[in-house]
Amino acid sequence: MKYLVTGGAGFIGTNFVKYILQTHGRQAQICVLDALTYAGNLSSLHDELQSELISFVHADIGDREAVDRILLEFKPDYVVNFAAESHVDRSIDDPGIFLRTNILGTQNLMDCCRKAWQNPDGSYMPGKRFLQVSTDEVYGSLLRDIPDGRRFDIPHPLCDAAGGRSESTAYGNDFFTEDSPLQPRSPYSASKASADMLVLAYIHTYGFPALITRCSNNYGPYQFPEKLIPLIINNVLQNKPLPVYGDGRNVRDWLYVDDHCAAIDTVLRRGRLGEVYNIGGFNEKQNIDIVGMIIDEVARLCNENDRYRALLAEPDRLPDRSLITFVKDRPGHDARYAIDPVKTATELGWAPRIPFAEGLPRTVRWYLDQRKWVTDIVDGDYQMYYHKMYSGR
Ligand code: NAD
Ligand code: DAU
Repeated sequence: MKYLVTGGAGFIGTNFVKYILQTHGRQAQICVLDALTYAGNLSSLHDELQSELISFVHADIGDREAVDRILLEFKPDYVVNFAAESHVDRSIDDPGIFLRTNILGTQNLMDCCRKAWQNPDGSYMPGKRFLQVSTDEVYGSLLRDIPDGRRFDIPHPLCDAAGGRSESTAYGNDFFTEDSPLQPRSPYSASKASADMLVLAYIHTYGFPALITRCSNNYGPYQFPEKLIPLIINNVLQNKPLPVYGDGRNVRDWLYVDDHCAAIDTVLRRGRLGEVYNIGGFNEKQNIDIVGMIIDEVARLCNENDRYRALLAEPDRLPDRSLITFVKDRPGHDARYAIDPVKTATELGWAPRIPFAEGLPRTVRWYLDQRKWVTDIVDGDYQMYYHKMYSGR
């Protein structure tokens, strides 16, 4: 199978490329198309790019000529569109690029695919599939409903797959299903919802062979350190304040990135064309709890291992919760996301495999082991970004 992976130099795209090569070996060929914005990092794919199974094209998904050429020369069976502006805070600061890339870029990709894949009679070449990687944020926000701190148990086998009952509690009793209305509330999520609606319109109007996945928050290796988990790990090591928005009680539903990659590949191969598939693992956490877990894990690793302790800006002092700093909230901050992935699980046989109790320590350790990957990024422009977003907040 030939995969064209747009945005393959970003966080999830990079993990997806590695996942496909590991899972399908020589049966898969991959072309990565990426504009290498601030969020794209080709060094993440350094080893994979040595293989003749993978090629890279530096291009924008909005560039019609470039995309036409790749489709003509590489002839992919699958186009997986990860390429996007993905950070909510940046979308609040400057929405324009989100609309250009996430909406118009997706439209251009689909137009190019139609041209390359459609027969004169309007039918499409067999086996061609376009997968739009979307997000749970398109559904808007659920209520943060924690009466007297009580949580709901979710009796579903998926929870067992995700690590058992201790991982399977929710903060409310409502979830986003594929039928939930689209009610985006940030410029980022509005741009993703717009792209979803365009994909659905192309399916309806042109019979375009597409599918959509909507996943909850991902975590794992190679995530850009503007996002909560890698940002907190980096600040803990540097003994810098840990910025927690608002009261820290907003809830996100976290999934290890490999589980997302496995779900996307499953939907690509077995999903029904024209359908939307939710992806998540019933793993809701409040931000403040995540920050606490990261502090504890870094402290534990540094206590056990002098090599890790040497990474601390102040090696004589193990990090603790005094670093937590509550800062001004994100405007329009969504209170809670929670995905119901039962359709994907029951129809396609997918289930998450990495429980949070395993995935979070694995992620923290990766960021400590791959310090250079982070330090290369947090030089230069990142400092300006950090200053703009956090100083005086
Ligand atoms: P990311 O910001 O880490 O990576 C985005 C990649 O897209 C980068 O490599 C960037 O260079 C590239 N890109 C940006 N604009 C481009 C353009 N015009 N043309 C070509 N390439 C371009 O994002 P991510 O976290 O890996 O997210 C990937 C996709 O998954 C996004 O569509 C996002 O909406 C979706 N998603 C993310 C999460 C999450 O938790 N990170 C969850 C659900 C869905
Ligand atoms: O739900 C899926 C979405 O998850 C994806 O579509 C987005 O691309 C991805 O960026 C992510 O969006 P979030 O806004 O949920 O992720 P972020 O890591 O930015 O923030 C997670 C939570 O932590 C959120 O409630 C805001 C909070 N936060 C974030 C940062 C960066 C803080 O409290 N402090 C911070 O410094």
